[in-house]
Amino acid sequence: MARLSFATLRILVTSALPYANGDIHFGQVAGAYLPADIFVKYHRLRGSDVVYVCGSDEHGVPITMTAQKQGLTPREVVDKYHVRIREAFKDFGIEFDNYSRTSLPLHHETSQGFFRRVYDKGYIKPRTTRQLYCPCCKMFLADRYVEGICPNCRAEGARGDQCEACGRWIEPFDLIEPRCKTCGETPEIRETKHWFFALSRFQEPLRKWLASKPDWKPNVRRFCEGWFKAGLRDRSITRDLSWGVPVPLEEAKDKVMYVWFDAPIGYVSSTKEWARQQGKPDRWRDYWEDSSTRLVHFIGKDNIVFHAMVWPAMLMAFDEWVLPTEIPANEFLNIESRKFSTSRNWALWLPEYLSRFPADPLRYALAVNLPENRDVDFAWRDYHARNNNELADILGNFVNRVAVFLHKNYSGRVPDVTADDDAGLEVLKAIEAAPGRIATMIDGFRIKDAAREVMTLPALGNRYFDKQSPWRSHTDDRQACDRTMATCVRLISALEVLLYPFLPHTSRRIGQMLGLGVRSWADAANPAIPGELGEPTILFTKLDDTFVDAQMARLGAEPEDTKEAQVISLDEFKKVELKTARVESAEKVEGTDKLVKMSIDLGGEKRQIVAGIGKAYRPEDLVGKTIVVVANLAPAKIRGVESRGMLLAAVDGDEIALVTVDRETKAGCEVS
Ligand code: MF3
Ligand code: ZN
Repeated sequence: MARLSFATLRILVTSALPYANGDIHFGQVAGAYLPADIFVKYHRLRGSDVVYVCGSDEHGVPITMTAQKQGLTPREVVDKYHVRIREAFKDFGIEFDNYSRTSLPLHHETSQGFFRRVYDKGYIKPRTTRQLYCPCCKMFLADRYVEGICPNCRAEGARGDQCEACGRWIEPFDLIEPRCKTCGETPEIRETKHWFFALSRFQEPLRKWLASKPDWKPNVRRFCEGWFKAGLRDRSITRDLSWGVPVPLEEAKDKVMYVWFDAPIGYVSSTKEWARQQGKPDRWRDYWEDSSTRLVHFIGKDNIVFHAMVWPAMLMAFDEWVLPTEIPANEFLNIESRKFSTSRNWALWLPEYLSRFPADPLRYALAVNLPENRDVDFAWRDYHARNNNELADILGNFVNRVAVFLHKNYSGRVPDVTADDDAGLEVLKAIEAAPGRIATMIDGFRIKDAAREVMTLPALGNRYFDKQSPWRSHTDDRQACDRTMATCVRLISALEVLLYPFLPHTSRRIGQMLGLGVRSWADAANPAIPGELGEPTILFTKLDDTFVDAQMARLGAEPEDTKEAQVISLDEFKKVELKTARVESAEKVEGTDKLVKMSIDLGGEKRQIVAGIGKAYRPEDLVGKTIVVVANLAPAKIRGVESRGMLLAAVDGDEIALVTVDRETKAGCEVS
């Protein structure tokens, strides 16, 4: 069999530093973290010299605005979210070599040293500029403190740092019809002094550099070409804020660096911190100062301009560290066909997910549907299908049936044979080809294809198992049965390795069953089999039919922890018309377990209402009951069925108890 051999490469991988002002959401996971983690895990298995760094981005207006909104100090905000983000990544199986934070002294020193050197080389110069100033809030309105119409694409609601619609980097001053985001006032123009980075001087060097990257993703190249056409302008890199990295200039000591100046330097600080933790404080130089390092920045598309233009220009000015080799930028992940939005809570949050479900099914659902070339949609229905039909029915089923069969018929021992029949050889050939094929995909950042490719193996395994029918050959032709089972275990052994980048938790459980110790990517082409197999396990739990509806109900709802107990007046309460009603008939809404359609008598008036009480009450037991309903609620359609009113019930998770009356009353009686 061919041996796979891979040259050792030095690779430094980064994922965009997330702002420490909120939890990580699925879009970020799919854009910058999961693909990077898959890439890194694969390279670790290959034995590449790979280091993966990241950290929290703890400066800038995103942090100070969150602080203002939550009534906290910026320090409290970043301390809170840094830990939440770090722990969520860990639980999701994202394995950084180091997860740092930009508020560390090490990062401040590194950024200040960087600023100073670029300044000394003459690329940073002060300018007196006219800036937006809010007289009401008494401050200059940098970045997200101001909103208006985008001067490039005319979209409304563009922020003073970037327009979400067209992705352009904006100077607040250029916004049309600017408004102070804090108080809504129209700001005035005042003069102030800021330091500018001479981005314009890098137009030609950047253009040449990008021309040497013909195989970069088209989304990145297209973006940069647009920028060149418009012409690069010098950019202000200082801010009048008290939170951030202080500018290391005597004349600017009340200013801090613009967050997008210090944040990418965080990649270097994080590598430095990692080197210190290794007890080799200079090791970061092996990566940043060696021109053969392959530096790979995983980002979402909203960060392209900073990573493909501004940061490389900064690095050219600094002239000591390597430039990015690759910038695999991903597109956006929509949620149930709608754009992600924090304000409408149309978002799915990683820690919230992980508090209820295991990591691997989500890793899988996202990996086979990564937004690599275009925006994609995340849908719970799809997640449900991937979990049940692919992970449980194909992968989980294959591993389980092989283990169960071996335990039942071989006391768990694995026959020590190698198949030489046609069917067996076909499977062995597929195993042999898989690591190379998947490697090419991952190395070309076709990670979605790679994930799909891996899953063809257990599907092949199931077909093979069915066709060989070991339950029959076990009595008819024991040798054939031995070959089949050995081949199946070989396939499982390959899967332990090949699944690891995508489904690390599952891979580890398979590894426990096999007990083969440390594995490598090259192993997977000609995988070893153990003498004995551990107990069969169920790798995935199937989700039932109510799953999708239950998840959909949470989307867009107010998050539990922000719901405030509100005091309302008697007048407000009186707007709610509560009435008793008699249930005249009840039946399940077709196709659901939970929803019950009832016809009720409101004292002369008949109505139809729909309620989610099907798991707590049988329809026939509801008939004749006197219940309490909100009679003046706006009609709604639930699963396409009209509901005119809402019944009251005490709800404790799945435990539901209807509110009824203590003594018989007539139907339609006012409840007050
Ligand atoms: N915090 C930024 C964001 O979430 C990303 C910073 S990436 C870095 O959009 F390169 F600056 F670190
Ligand atoms: Zn204001």
